[in-house]
Amino acid sequence: MVIAATGSYLPERVLHNRDLEKMVDTSDEWIFTRTGIRERRMAAPDEATSDLCLRAARRALDEDGTAPDDLDLIVVTTITPDTMCPSAACWLQNKLGADRAVAFDLAAACSGFLFGLKTVQSFLAADPRIRNVLLCSAEVMTRTVDYTDRASCILWGDGGAAALIRRDGPGLHLRRVEIRTQGAYGEDLLLPGGGSRTTPISHESVDRNLHTLKLEGKKTFRVAVRCMAGIAREVLEAEGLGVEDVDWVIPHQANRRIQEAVAQVLKLPLEKMVFTIEKYGNISSATIPIALDEARRDGRIRPGQRVLLTAFGGGLTWGAALLEAQG
Ligand code: UT7
Repeated sequence: MVIAATGSYLPERVLHNRDLEKMVDTSDEWIFTRTGIRERRMAAPDEATSDLCLRAARRALDEDGTAPDDLDLIVVTTITPDTMCPSAACWLQNKLGADRAVAFDLAAACSGFLFGLKTVQSFLAADPRIRNVLLCSAEVMTRTVDYTDRASCILWGDGGAAALIRRDGPGLHLRRVEIRTQGAYGEDLLLPGGGSRTTPISHESVDRNLHTLKLEGKKTFRVAVRCMAGIAREVLEAEGLGVEDVDWVIPHQANRRIQEAVAQVLKLPLEKMVFTIEKYGNISSATIPIALDEARRDGRIRPGQRVLLTAFGGGLTWGAALLEAQG
C-alpha cells in the first residue's frame, strides 16, 4: 500500500517553556536540557480532536485532488477523542462530508499511527472494495495534563495529521509494519479516570485527580529506548537491510534524549533523524505523521529514499514501519 498524500495541522496558540515557568516550579533551561522541548501548541477552547483531523485531512485530500466522497474508510488514532461516543472518526466523517466511508477510532497511545498503518493494510488486503483510506492521528493532550505535576505537564502538546492511503501509485510505499504490546506495564502511563475501572465521573473522581495523565518518567524512558530501537532493527532485518540503507528515521517525539539514545543503539547518525520535539513537544500518536508530513513537504524525503518510523507509548505499545518513496 502507498501513502499518496499527507497533511498536518498545529493549533495557533503557542505555550512556551517561559509560560510554564509561571505555572509550575520549572525553568526553560531545565525543560530544554532534559527533554529538548522549547514550546508546544494548545488547541483553542472550541477545537476538539476531530477539528484538528479535519484541517489535516483537507490538506492531504487537496494535495491529491481526492474528494471526501471518494473515501471508503476513515481511521482516527487517538487517546483524546472528542467524546467517548461517538468516535472522533464519526465526528470527522460528518464534518468532512465523507458519507460513503466507514469510520472508527483506534487507541494505541503514542504508537497509534503504526497501529493505524497495520490496520489499514489489513483492510486493504481483506476487502477489494476499499480503495481510498484516510488515516488520521490527532490529540488534544493538553486537556489531559495535570498542571501541578511538573515532571509530566511540560511534555505534552496538541496537533493532528492525516495520510491518504491506497493500494498503489506514487508516494510512500509501505514495505513492512510491525506492532507489539505488553499489557503488564499499563500502570506506567495511565489516564485512570473516565473509564469503567474507576468511579463514574464525579466530584470524588475529580477530587482524587483521576482525570489526568500519570507518567512513570524514568521507567518509560528506559523501555522506550529498548523497544523503539529493537523493533526498528527487527523491521530492517526482515527486509534484509541495515541502518545504513535508511535515509531518514522518524522516531516518536517524546524526549530528545530518548531519540538520541535510540540513534546511539542503532548506530545512526543524528543527521538522519527528523525532529519536531523542540517546537511541538509530545503529541502522542500525532508526532510521527506530523514529522512525516513536514519532511515530505519541505523536500527532505526524495524519491528513492527509505524512511523508518519507530514509536513507543502507553499500553505499553510499540511499533515500526519502513516506507520507500517512489516517484
Ligand atoms: O511517549 C512516551 C512516553 N514516555 C515519556 O514521554 C516519558 C519519558 N521520560 C522522560 O521524558 C523523563 O523521564 C522526564 C522528562 C519525564 C523526567 O526527566 P528525568 O531526567 O527522568 O528527571 P527525574 O524525574 O529523574 O527528575 C530529576 C530531578 C528531580 O529533582 P531531585 O529529586 O533530583 O531534586 C525532579 O524533581 O528534576 C526534578 N524535576 C524538575 N525540575 C524542574 C522534574 N521535573 C522538573 C521540571 N522542572 N519540570
